[in-house]
Parts: sequence; structure tokens; C-alpha cells
Amino acid sequence: MIESPTTTRSPGRRVSPAYQRLEELLARGEPVILDGGNATELERAQAGELRNGDRGLWGTGALYDAPYAVLDVHRAYVAAGCDVISTNTWAILAAAEVKAGGAAAGGLTHWMDVARLGIRVAREAIEVEGRVESCAIAFSVNGDVEGEERLESLRLLTRVLEEDPPDLLLLETMSLLREETTRAIELALGSGLPVWLSFRRCRHGVCGVYGQHWGGPEGDLFGRAAQQFEAMGVGALLVNCLPPEHVDGMLPWLRDFTDLPLGAYPNLGYYSDSGWRHDERIGPDEYAELALRWRSQGAQIVGGCCGTTPAHIAAVKKSLGGTKASGRRGDPPAGEGPLSGRAPTLSRPWVDTEGRQLYPLPFPELELGQGVFVPTVGSLLVWKHLLRERIGAGKRCLDVGCGSGLLTVQLARNEAEHVHAVDVEREAVATTLANAYRNGVAERVTGAEVDLYMLEPEHRYDVVVASLYQMPVDPYEQYTGHRPLDYWGRNLVDHLIGLLPRLLAEGGVAYMMQLSILSQLETAAHLEAAGLAGRVVDFGFFPFSEPFERNRAQIERVEQLSDAYHLRLGDADVMVAYLLEIERRG
Ligand SMILES: C[S@@+](CC[C@H](N)C(=O)[O-])C[C@H]1O[C@@H](n2cnc3c(N)ncnc32)[C@H](O)[C@@H]1O
Repeated sequence: MIESPTTTRSPGRRVSPAYQRLEELLARGEPVILDGGNATELERAQAGELRNGDRGLWGTGALYDAPYAVLDVHRAYVAAGCDVISTNTWAILAAAEVKAGGAAAGGLTHWMDVARLGIRVAREAIEVEGRVESCAIAFSVNGDVEGEERLESLRLLTRVLEEDPPDLLLLETMSLLREETTRAIELALGSGLPVWLSFRRCRHGVCGVYGQHWGGPEGDLFGRAAQQFEAMGVGALLVNCLPPEHVDGMLPWLRDFTDLPLGAYPNLGYYSDSGWRHDERIGPDEYAELALRWRSQGAQIVGGCCGTTPAHIAAVKKSLGGTKASGRRGDPPAGEGPLSGRAPTLSRPWVDTEGRQLYPLPFPELELGQGVFVPTVGSLLVWKHLLRERIGAGKRCLDVGCGSGLLTVQLARNEAEHVHAVDVEREAVATTLANAYRNGVAERVTGAEVDLYMLEPEHRYDVVVASLYQMPVDPYEQYTGHRPLDYWGRNLVDHLIGLLPRLLAEGGVAYMMQLSILSQLETAAHLEAAGLAGRVVDFGFFPFSEPFERNRAQIERVEQLSDAYHLRLGDADVMVAYLLEIERRG
């Protein structure tokens, strides 16, 4: 073991020769190479054993149980050519909360001793590999220091580090900016050691190990924080613990805010129930290619986080030799390299097979008059089919029970020659005509207040559409004047079927929505009697809304007495809405 010699630059600031060398490398524009994943390498070496003994300390537990395995991992990184290795102490502040018990081999149970051992093991690796003063030790701490207890542990840690100091303190894997963040950084700086910060952040904000983002848009918040870190005396700012494709663009963005040395060391893979899943897509050569890309975006410090191996780091060391980091600000260069296919690009809008826009859907602009039926799942099912199949183009159409005019407007937007809209409610007809005007199709739309039961067809149509009420009601609970009682819920449907032979022109087609709480056999019988044939062209799911709940007893009665049905999903009742395409029998 060697003593770490220190020189003092400014009062309270301790700079070791190994750290001084890092500063010189940065000043000359040469890359600084960090190590790769420690915990994942330990896991790889020790299979399940480490996980069992780790007590949730993400590798740090190995310092209790298997310090020689930690030494081997450090040695491999030093041999790979790292300028900095990080101690296996990421979870040391969590270790401080692991209460007595679980005695470890060697009898080391106190977290402060584990912190000391972390440095000694790293130092020994550097010594054995003959890299004294050319490889620095970064004492790693999970920088998300939450709560007073952990802040206090951090303060105690800085005292521990006084005796055998590392070359720098690395607060890493930081996420949100909180008041505790500033306090933790201040405590770290108070140690007098150089402090580097690393955040799990990409251009979208805080970024998780799976590439998931959390938090809302925060504008310049993190950039301004970077400025603050610089003013506080932090030595470098990095990003880590995020998928490699999320590094893209982050460093040029940060460069707009700070002159600090910038770096990146992302993950390769992700955590799963069965341990770390290594990202097999990116071997050492591919990773070295990515490192070059980050270098071209201004990375001065490059390494790897979980999932990267000594082989990845050796490849990075080789590929970055002799390169200069770009000082460029703003957008990164257009995609190249192994991940460019997955890198975020200017997204194209989703379109259907005919190139029609699907996001957002070209939904008509609708205003609803007083008491006019608000389109529901059944209406939307029919609308979708009209849109997709461009139903009505060049045709004469009839919309029976037009309501808001949703179907009328779509037929007209599909370039129907003409659409006639009828509804028993005057307000619905007025609404339909107003909506036709709103959508620029008024000149091809007419409307009339008509009761379907009274309708005497005077014209024939190429296309008839109908999304009609279908509600079985108990006759004893419904008083009615001239309207027929609707025990089976199918009066309007059956009446329309009966009219279709007189409404449809030669080759004409009707689209009618039918709910599954109506009998299919009964519909088939009515169609047959009218010389028609129907087939299902689409279906959707229609939850029981309040009126259906109210008539549940009658719906169940109809289902007992016929082939009508609905689905039961846990506590929820769901009907199926079928869209029938009806034509004359051939
Ligand atoms: C389920 S809504 C469908 C409205 C619209 N087609 C849609 O898809 O949103 C049924 C419409 O039929 C109308 N209606 C009810 N009974 C009718 C009848 N006897 N004659 C004509 N229309 C009727 C209602 O006023 C209502 O606007």
C-alpha cells in the first residue's frame, strides 16, 4: 500500500498528483478515460452469490464479502488503460443504514471501515498494475442523498476520507434537483477534495436505466444548475446510468450553460429479475464507435456504467487516443454509428396505407346542440369504417338518426355526391347542418326532421348509414304514447331493415351498428325476410353506460331468452358493437 501524496492548490483544496494529471490531460484536450461497471462485473464473476449477500447494496456488499473479487475488477480496468477508477462504494450511504448483523468475512461490519477498504482495494489495484500517479481514484457515492440521515452520513464520510483520501469524490447517478442536492454537493466540496458530479439525465430531463423519463418539461433548469455547480467549485459534470442512445445531444446542450469538463458513461443493458441483462447489441467495437461520437459532441471524459466491461473500456481507450473533443454547442451531428437507427430523429407523422394522417386523427369539428346525442363507441366504430374505407365517395347517401352529424360530415368529407341527414329530433338536424357548415361540406348536405317509423322512402341511396338506439326496456317500467315498447331493444333496427329494400339503390350498401345485447339470429332472420345479406366488417367494445346499467335487468332477461350476450370483465360489463355491411342478396 502507498500513501497518497497531496499538494494544496488553494486553501482547503487538496489536489493529488494523479488528479493534477487529469487536469493536465483535460487542459491539453486529451480524453480522460473512466472505468466501466463494477457491480455488474462482480455479478458476472460471482453469479448469484453476490446478489444473495449484497443486501440491496448494488455491488458494495462485495467489499464485505469478497474484497478480492473487487480487487480483480479494479485491476482489469486499470490494465484496460483507465485514467480514473471508481471505488466499489456507490451504495456506501445505504450501507450506513444497514444495521448490525449479517457479519461479513473478515469481521468488517462498520460502513466507515468498508469505505476505507474501498479506497485501499482501489489503490492496491493501481499499485499492482504499476500505474501509481497515472490512474486516479474516484470515491463513488450515490449522489441522490435523500434525507437528513444520509446527509449526516455523507458529512461523516468526508471525515473518514481525510485519513486516506481518494483523488476525487464522484457523486453519481443523481436525478432530481432538490434542496438536498445542493447540500450534498456543499458537504462533498467541504472535504477539500475535487468533486465530480454525474446525473442520469438526457435531453428530455431525468432519464432512467431503461430509457424512461420522469418529471415534466423543465426548460433550462438543469442547464442553470450546471452553471451553479461550476460557480460552487465542482470539477466536472457527467451523465451516467442511462442507455447509450440517450447520451446523444446532451453534452452540446450542457456546453451552452457551462465551461466545466463534460463527460458520459452510460449503461449497457438493464436490471431484470434475474440480474443484469447485458446489452448484446453493443460489443467493445460498437461502444468505441459511440465513444467517438460523444467525443465529437464534446465529451472530455468517457467511461461506462453498469453493463460495460474492461473490454469495452480498453476499446474506448484505443479509439479515443489522439482525438480532440469538440467544443461545439447546440445540436449534435446527424446520426451515424451503431445506435443511429434508434437515435431520436425528426419523427414522421403516422399515416395509413394511403398516406392519410392518423395522428391526430382527422376527426370532424363538432359542436353539439342542446340535448343532441353525444357520439359514443358505436358511433365512433361506424365513423372509423367510413373514414378508413372512404365510404360514400361519389355516392348519394342517407344518414338515419344523424344526431350530431358525425357520420353525415364524414361521408361528405369522403367526397359524397350528396348526404341527406334525418333525425326525429329537430335540434339534431339543425346541429348536423351547422356541423356540415363548420367542416366546409354544407353545400352537399341536406337535413330533415323525420321519424323513422313514419318514413315513406321517396328516394333511393347508394349508401345508408345508421347508428341507432338499441335498448331493451321492461314494458312495465316505460310509459309510451305512440312509440312501440322496445322489449328486445331492436325496434328501430328491425324497422330500418324492413325499409332498406326501398331505400337502397341498385348495388347500394347499408352500414348499421348492432350491439351484442341484441340477438344475432333475429337480425339474420329480418335481413333474410327483406332479401338482404349482412356481414360483420368491424367490431368494437362498448362499456355499459348509465342507461344500460339502468336497464340491466331487462338486458339480462333478453340475454336469457335469446342468443344476445355481453362480456363480463371483472366488475365491468362490456358489450360488443358490431358493424354490419348489408347488401341485397345476390
Ligand atoms: C345512437 S344516436 C346516433 C347519432 C349519430 N348517428 C351518431 O352516430 O352519433 C341515435 C339517433 O337517432 C335518433 N332517433 C331516435 N329515434 C328516432 C326515430 N324514430 N327516427 C329518427 N331518428 C331517431 C336520435 O335522436 C339520435 O340522434
